[in-house]
Amino acid sequence: MKTALITGCSSGYGLETARHFHEHGWNVIATMRTPANGALPPSDRMRTLALDVTRPESIAAAVEAAGPIDVLVNNAGIGLLGAFEATPMATVRELFETNTFGVMAMTQAVLPQLRERRTGVIVNVTSSATLAAFPLVAAYTASKTAIEGFTASLALEAAELGVRVKLVEPGYGPGTRFAANGAARMNGLITPPYAAYAQRVFAGFAGGGPVTTGADVAAEIFRAATDGSERLHYAAGPDAVALAERRAAR
Ligand SMILES: NC(=O)c1ccc[n+]([C@@H]2O[C@H](COP(=O)([O-])OP(=O)(O)OC[C@H]3O[C@@H](n4cnc5c(N)ncnc54)[C@H](OP(=O)(O)O)[C@@H]3O)[C@@H](O)[C@H]2O)c1
Repeated sequence: MKTALITGCSSGYGLETARHFHEHGWNVIATMRTPANGALPPSDRMRTLALDVTRPESIAAAVEAAGPIDVLVNNAGIGLLGAFEATPMATVRELFETNTFGVMAMTQAVLPQLRERRTGVIVNVTSSATLAAFPLVAAYTASKTAIEGFTASLALEAAELGVRVKLVEPGYGPGTRFAANGAARMNGLITPPYAAYAQRVFAGFAGGGPVTTGADVAAEIFRAATDGSERLHYAAGPDAVALAERRAAR
């Protein structure tokens, strides 16, 4: 039986992905900063472990406690919506600590065992913000686009050793806790010069177009982890798929 370790399983896409792998008969190690398994199915194939991807000692302890892993899903992430000009550099660094360096640190912690067994898959969750430019998310887009380049390069060297590295690019998912979890960080980042523009942008978000669900993302992460292909990019959700198709047609 195969084992998947997933980061950021307390809510949203990570929680849905943990459920999806479990439903497909996998052992799941659902990690989260503050362990609570109320939302996860009670099962001897479902373990929760504490993991903060910004803390090296937390990563080492979780990977040690997890034992052998076949699939690592780097899903944990934080968002930020605001005028870049008004965004403190400390906040930019906070984004990169989780969305970028957290993914890299988890990869370094798990890759050696995959390399030794010459098998396994690492799935990095980025965003549809890497497929087309959106306003007021410059720092967030930078943190995710770095992982797009990182993953594309790493996939080449890892393939030599029998390990696959993949990108899942989810679309806009208003059903997760993403906006609520970022609310405090975003406070005051729409300053007066940007207020009218931001209002138009927010009205566009509320415009009722297609959006992405946890089920869309979980299914695409599972596909990336199990299809056995060399494919790198997996857009997840109808809005993300439309953006990926538009980019491919350019
Ligand atoms: N929702 C969207 O519109 C959207 C669109 C494109 C991409 N994404 C990406 O999808 C992924 C999942 O987001 P979501 O929408 O499901 O949001 P979410 O409901 O806020 O889930 C994010 C998860 O990441 C965890 N997390 C945050 N910082 C962490 C850290 N330092 N260490 C470990 N875990 C940490 C959170 O845990 P805590 O409970 O501990 O905070 C939470 O479990 C993220 O990478 C996000 O960037 C989201």
